[in-house]
Amino acid sequence: MASLLDRIVTVDALDVASRRVFVRVDFNVPLTDEGAVADDTRIREALPTIRHLVQAGARVVLASHLGRPKKGRDPKLSLAAAGERLAELISAEIVLTDDCIGDGARKVVHDLRDGRVALLENLRFHPEEEANDEGFARELAKLCDMYVDDAFGAVHRAHASVDALPRLVGTRAAGFLLAKELKILGTLAAGPERPYLAVLGGAKVSDKIGVIEALFTKVDALLVGGAMANTFLAAQGKEMGRSLVEVDKLPLARDLLARAVDKRVAVLLPTDVVVAQHVGAAEGRVVGVEAVGREDMALDIGPATVAAFREKLLRARSVFWNGPMGLFEKAPFAQGSIGVAKAIAESASFSVVGGGDSVAAVQQAGLAERFTHVSTGGGASLELLEGRTLPGVEALRT
Ligand code: 3PG
Repeated sequence: MASLLDRIVTVDALDVASRRVFVRVDFNVPLTDEGAVADDTRIREALPTIRHLVQAGARVVLASHLGRPKKGRDPKLSLAAAGERLAELISAEIVLTDDCIGDGARKVVHDLRDGRVALLENLRFHPEEEANDEGFARELAKLCDMYVDDAFGAVHRAHASVDALPRLVGTRAAGFLLAKELKILGTLAAGPERPYLAVLGGAKVSDKIGVIEALFTKVDALLVGGAMANTFLAAQGKEMGRSLVEVDKLPLARDLLARAVDKRVAVLLPTDVVVAQHVGAAEGRVVGVEAVGREDMALDIGPATVAAFREKLLRARSVFWNGPMGLFEKAPFAQGSIGVAKAIAESASFSVVGGGDSVAAVQQAGLAERFTHVSTGGGASLELLEGRTLPGVEALRT
């Protein structure tokens, strides 16, 4: 398989001194109710590229989206807090433009001195960003001499700053974060050392159909938890009470289970679950999957399931994990995700976790350091493993 980085140079190959370098970052970070950055992982992960450019004397123009603004400008989705956090991390002033295009942005960039950093306001305040609009990309192109993409989390989006813009700029490169993500996830996509296990969780089977099908040709076993496991269990005829089940996906779930048998991929489903009658319950009750009551909602995998998953995971050579095993943000339903995180951390495997909630579970358990790689891309890592073309990566090839 060709390397995902074929014909893509990395930022250190560019001669950037005194040049305006547009860097697409993914500062789409969670914010607190007060509007502060709740988790700065994505900002910290972009630092190697930003520091490199600053030290090399570039005029650094950072651009990102934040959230999904519906109708143009939304002050709650300003990049101001992300800019402040970045300023603290690099101990330097960051100028935030009022808008990502137009006279104001051009003036800020024009006045930028070597080794200084400007941050453009949220790209998605313009619907043309998501429309991959060429005219909008031309406006952005006025702000740069060179283009660097370090926004792995957004490379699966054919948006103007990710796709149309780099095609307009002659000199383009991958940032260090993007290159690292492509190298590590590329190893999984190519088929890593076996046994290779994938742990999938989260709410919906429908979000993961493509990746499940792609994983069938690569993995030895699929360990399924989270609400998506309810749909598989219901497809096997289990009574799931009031648990979240995608009723319209039951035939699909049956078909996927049948195909797993054909492909000789073991699919491990929960044998017990933690149930409660509502998501705000102070505690849950462990029951076998045959004993879920009519009023029960399955909100986490149970201890017997954790033990079975653990046994498999400890013997794995490679592991990919996406999606939490339950409602981990509520303490009574966090043990499944924590148990899986611990088992992967204790294994000697090449281990990759991707996807906001599962990454948060790993961080909450204090185990991020013990994973080979914590990906900054949820949707992007799934699309990469599915073998889909990533517009932001293709646009960088020379
Ligand atoms: C993410 O958080 O997965 C990326 O920043 C992409 O965001 P999006 O799903 O809103 O395009």
